[in-house]
Amino acid sequence: MKEIYADHAATSYPRPPQVAEAMTNYLQNIGCNPGRGGYRRSLEAARMVYETRVLLADFFHVPQPEQVVFTPSVTYSLNLVLKGVLTSGDHVLISSMEHNAVVRPLTRLAAEQGIQVERLPCNADGTMDPLQVRRALKPNTKLVVLTHASNVTGTLLPVYEVGEILAKTDTLYCIDAAQTAGTEKVDFQDLRCDYLAFTGHKGLLGPPGIGGLCLSERALLATNSLVEGGTGSRSEDENQPQFLPDKFESGTQNAPGIAGLAAGIKIINQVGLTAIKEKKRNLTAAFLDGISGLPGIHIYGTKDPNLTTATVSINMEGIDNGDLSFMLEQGYGIMTRSGLHCAPLAHHTIGSFPVGTLRFSFGWQNTMEEIETMIQALREIIKEH
Ligand SMILES: Cc1ncc(COP(=O)(O)O)c(C=O)c1O
Repeated sequence: MKEIYADHAATSYPRPPQVAEAMTNYLQNIGCNPGRGGYRRSLEAARMVYETRVLLADFFHVPQPEQVVFTPSVTYSLNLVLKGVLTSGDHVLISSMEHNAVVRPLTRLAAEQGIQVERLPCNADGTMDPLQVRRALKPNTKLVVLTHASNVTGTLLPVYEVGEILAKTDTLYCIDAAQTAGTEKVDFQDLRCDYLAFTGHKGLLGPPGIGGLCLSERALLATNSLVEGGTGSRSEDENQPQFLPDKFESGTQNAPGIAGLAAGIKIINQVGLTAIKEKKRNLTAAFLDGISGLPGIHIYGTKDPNLTTATVSINMEGIDNGDLSFMLEQGYGIMTRSGLHCAPLAHHTIGSFPVGTLRFSFGWQNTMEEIETMIQALREIIKEH
């Protein structure tokens, strides 16, 4: 049976072979620590890291490459922002579609430091009125955190409109681009944000274990480091350097991960973001079209493929979504994710808590033929039950 991978919102698979090749090339042919030595191999590693920073700065339209900080993941980046910025008495706004990478650190900060966390309610299809942000701002609103797109429904949030609203205020603005980087337009300057958190292993086609955070100049001043240590710079000083990117990049870097991420971004640049988006939009539109009206299927989120990433959450009447996911793999080789997808808040919003949903999420590597097989598989399962 042919495998069909439909869990691209979790991680990208299969990755382009160039990603593994770049990682192997680093390990076999470079192999040494970037920024820690004056010999050829170390300099070559430092050059590779710098070139990837430049690639990312161009990709996200960040003014200077130093404003791109490497981290292990978007989860780490978001923790860095939340714990580095917020102090007792601060008010923070989030949407009701956020991932646990935002919700859990904030729950802890609220309990331990009295941070006031306000959740802006999204509509049942996951959409949000950007004016809610303006109405909810208080004098002590230090930060607004929004996911660019929900990992449960794919619904895009109005992050550019909110950026316009916040640009006229002192409130810092953080965007979680986990679900959109590599597919949607993610333009740091047009977003007018202070923090853009991304992860390398989803739409950017890189390996797990590498992510990043783009920061504005005022964000550099407003954010304490989460981890201090060796940076290969100013080693005579026992204080952490306060400049970018060193302030937030202590310890030996994940150079193989960075090499793999660079290869992923180069592929995206070759294929073109517009072509990737168009392909995913067409796949999603065809899937939504094919399953709309099937008896017993409930589709969550917006049905407009222009307002969503390539992620569709459903439930089938009378069948547990975990069982359905199992049947799809056993009977048809289709890999999906069931349950709460680390985003219980989003399920409260769309009305699927506590059972969660069955999530299909597509990559530009999926084909129309695979979409047809998925629709047909659902039809057959409905018939049999
Ligand atoms: C919206 C969103 N935020 C954060 C994360 C966490 O990503 P990572 O595990 O790469 O840190 C995910 C991953 O599913 C996500 O979809």
